[in-house]
Order: sequence, then C-alpha cells, then structure tokens
Amino acid sequence: MFPVDRPRRLRRTPALRRLVAETSLQARHLVLPMFVADGITEQREISSMPGVFQHTLDSLSKAAEEAVAAGVGGLMLFGVPRPEDKDATGTGASDPDGILNRGLRALKADLGDATVIMADTCLDEFTDHGHCGVLTPEGVVDNDATLARYVDMAVAQADAGAHLLGPSGMMDGQVAAIRDGLDAAGHTEVGQLAYSAKYASAFYGPFREAVGSSLQGDRRTYQQDAANRREAAHEVELDLAEGADMVMVKPAMSYLDILRDVANISPVPVAAYQISGEYAMITAAAQNGWIDRDAAVLESLTSIRRAGADVVLTYWATEAAGWL
Ligand code: PBG
Repeated sequence: MFPVDRPRRLRRTPALRRLVAETSLQARHLVLPMFVADGITEQREISSMPGVFQHTLDSLSKAAEEAVAAGVGGLMLFGVPRPEDKDATGTGASDPDGILNRGLRALKADLGDATVIMADTCLDEFTDHGHCGVLTPEGVVDNDATLARYVDMAVAQADAGAHLLGPSGMMDGQVAAIRDGLDAAGHTEVGQLAYSAKYASAFYGPFREAVGSSLQGDRRTYQQDAANRREAAHEVELDLAEGADMVMVKPAMSYLDILRDVANISPVPVAAYQISGEYAMITAAAQNGWIDRDAAVLESLTSIRRAGADVVLTYWATEAAGWL
C-alpha cells in the first residue's frame, strides 16, 4: 500500500543532496573565451552578448587576471582585426604583429604558466570574405590550401606563447597538418584542443557580431549537419588518429547527445563550447524576468558536465567560477 522505494529521502535537505550529487562543477572546469580587438581605444560591449566585451590589449590583461583570480581553468583567445587589415588569405592570422598574436603575447607576459592560454586557430576573423579558409577561384573553401595557412597560423601562435591551439575550421586533416608544422618548428610541447565535432549552427549568430564577421552565406560545406550523430564519432576518431590532445563538441546545449557519445569513446579529455547564442538566449530571457539567470547558468553548465564534458568553454566562466 506504501511505496517501498522513496528516492525523495535523499532529496530532503541541501546537505543530503550535496552528499549524493553525481556531477560536480568547479572553477577549474571552466574556460573563458575572450575577444581582443585591434584599432579600439576602449573595451566595447557586444550588443547581442551583454556583459561580454571586445577588449583592448589593456582591458584584456585586466579581464584575464580577474578570470585567473576567480580560478578558471584557462582562457581561449579570439582576435578581431581592423576591417582594413582583412584579406583573401587572412594574412593577419599568421602575422606575429596580428592582433591575436599580440594578445597571446600580452597574456603570456602577464600570466606565464599560471593559467592555460589557448588560441583559436581559424582564419574566419582574418579573411575579407569571412570563411574559415582560402577560396578557390570558384569561391569554394579550398581544404588543402587552407591547411598550409593553418600551419603558419599555428606556428605564429605557438611562438606567441599559446599552450594549446584550437583548430576550429573543420578542414579535413587540420590536426595532422598543424601537428607536423608545430613539430617541424620545434613546438613539440604545444598541444591541440581540436574542435572535432563542430556543427553548422544558427546559435553562432552573436559571435559573428563579436568578431565583426564579414561572412556572406554559410559554413555548411565544412561544418557538420545538425542531423548527423554518427559522423561526430568519425570526426573524433580522425582527430585522435591525427594527434589531437583534447577533443571538443560545439555547440553544447543542442548537442548533449553528441557530447555523451564522444565522452564514451574518447581516450583524451573532452571539452564542450557553450556558444554565443546559448549565452544570448539565457541572458535575454533573464533580462525579461522570465527565468532566474544564475540558476539557469548553473543548471546549463552542470548539464554540460553531466553529458560528459571535462572542460566547458563559457562566457560565464569568470562569474560562475566566483560562485563555485
Ligand atoms: C570560427 C568560430 C566560431 C565560433 C568559434 N570559432 C563561429 C563560426 O563558426 O562561425 C563560435 C563561438 C560562439 O558562437 O560563441 N572560428
């Protein structure tokens, strides 16, 4: 007549719930993506990502120090060049004086090995057409010609002091090409956090504002189709065979099934990227008073961890680290 099993017993007090929580979320699990922009004299808030800024070199250092003081596990840096510095091959990406490489050098000078400094290794911020690679005369992204550019970019980022590179362009063979290039340049110690399963997503919208993207069209010839699950495992296996030190799934919240699949097969640490659109959705709903912001942020991060992420890239990294 009464239930024999009463799972509610373990939910009765906060202390009981804390004792039996299966998933933990700690500051070290969080990585802060940051934007450093050329040609601005003051940090600039990104309108579709309230609370996230394009930084000057000075404000970058300050925000990075705050993030590290809050205990985050690492920083992922993106560069935003001046529009007039973009060109067809993304020269600014491999230029030691390009904004991303200057930003990396500044972080390294400030923080040394006190945190993990990561760099986005992709051309889209630096090309005038906004694609992640160089184009054929017909306007198609040329896989193998792009690999050569990624190698130059990777070596410049390693020279600038990055600990981990994040190839995010979804070119075939990018991890192997970068590994060879780094090794040949003497950077055997620099690793790769490979964006292995990266989907063509509408949720990247605010990021395109964040980096002043000039993209016309879409990235569907290189990023994965949201309909595909098995393909993600294939991409991960290829990146592992090519030498990836960590693998990533991106976006996070609409792809938690993929994240679980990858976590189940990966022998290396798994990251997930809670992207700009995920940040914008929660922020906008909270601003309207429709959801409790802090609770929603923690729930989303816990869910990403529960699905299998060892590391979560999130624009809330500093703030959430402060709560934990
Ligand atoms: C491409 C890149 C993108 C993001 C990170 N690296 C976007 C894209 O493919 O257009 C998205 C990050 C975000 O939306 O927060 N280099």
